[in-house]
Amino acid sequence: MQGPAKAVKIAENVYWVGAVDWDLRDFHGYSTHRGTTYNAYLLTTKKVTLIDTVKAPFYGEMLSRISSVIDPRKIQCVVSNHAESDHSGSLPLFLKDFKPEKVIASALGVKALAAHYHWDIPVEAALDGGTLDLGSDRLRFLETRMLHWPDSMFSLMESSGILFSNDAFGMHLASSARFDDEVPDWYYEAAKYYANILMPLSDVVLSLFKKMEAAKLSPRMIAPDHGPIWRKDVQRIQELWKGWALLKRTDKAVVVYDSMWGATDKLARAVAEGLSSSGTKTCLMPLKANDRSDIACELLDAGALVAGSPTLNRELFPPMADVLTYLRGLKRKNLLGAAFGSYGWSPDGVKKVEEYLDQLGVERLPSLSCKYAPDAAKLEEAFKLGQDLSARLRAGVSVGAD
Ligand code: FEO
Repeated sequence: MQGPAKAVKIAENVYWVGAVDWDLRDFHGYSTHRGTTYNAYLLTTKKVTLIDTVKAPFYGEMLSRISSVIDPRKIQCVVSNHAESDHSGSLPLFLKDFKPEKVIASALGVKALAAHYHWDIPVEAALDGGTLDLGSDRLRFLETRMLHWPDSMFSLMESSGILFSNDAFGMHLASSARFDDEVPDWYYEAAKYYANILMPLSDVVLSLFKKMEAAKLSPRMIAPDHGPIWRKDVQRIQELWKGWALLKRTDKAVVVYDSMWGATDKLARAVAEGLSSSGTKTCLMPLKANDRSDIACELLDAGALVAGSPTLNRELFPPMADVLTYLRGLKRKNLLGAAFGSYGWSPDGVKKVEEYLDQLGVERLPSLSCKYAPDAAKLEEAFKLGQDLSARLRAGVSVGAD
């Protein structure tokens, strides 16, 4: 039995009816240290409409919030901006229980929903730029393919100026507050979300802003499907996204490594000292204390990735294979970097780090390998590697980058 949960009015005829997932700490491999929300929105316009739903286990919570405003049977139309299960998971349950007249998704959303739920429910394909008359207002649909799935779309409530942006401009942050100005410490979670979800799609993000400009989309409020609703920093979050999407090289280095017996750890600390004592902002991120998605976040505004691994059975140390595979998928462009690590009889770990860095397009300085444990001369070499990287970063850093 679901306890009572109330809707939150965010504008005239618009209510947040989503769910807060306070417990979530892993969102398909992305660490969510502060939980998340699944935002759904109820429009009590003449044509009563629900925009997106919530992850299936939270169906009761959504229903309770809707019922605090209106009988759910009065909902005539459901708009599905995105088929991923955190937003469509409750859709089959809702359709079965309440049978609204119409379900709308993008053309690719129609296919994606069918492939998820294997149903025979007719879903209307929204035209890119098409509209839905709500009576007192109008929804305009905008396809946003690959932001971040092929089916993704925006819905703009035209008179109210509210953009329902689905995953775009979101973040994983559970809170009892609904608006950006009520959770002023949001920056890290917004950057982490961009780094882990959007970074490989940065070219598409830049195209999105051109499309928004061409469509004269200048929202007064942005209501994403995760985290706070933007009513104060509407412009700032868009400017941040535009800046992140450029993937500039800055004077900041991320040193990522793991160690078996402490040798690679000593090398990492010497490289980091060489970097930081030369004036480069340095994040030393041992995998024993950092997870892959926080590392991705630090890389978003960095200029160098320095990665170190011991060799185990002629392979990378497995935790390094995990993080490098993840980072390779996130395609952070425009980085300097280097590989380093210790070995016993064959320096295969460092060679494999080099392969990953090359696949990521990292402009590499010569690697540093160390047989067994480093002596003073080897540590000096590692320190020098940090100094060299810093000199290169500081010489090439874009003017005005911060
Ligand atoms: Fe929040 Fe792509 O789902």
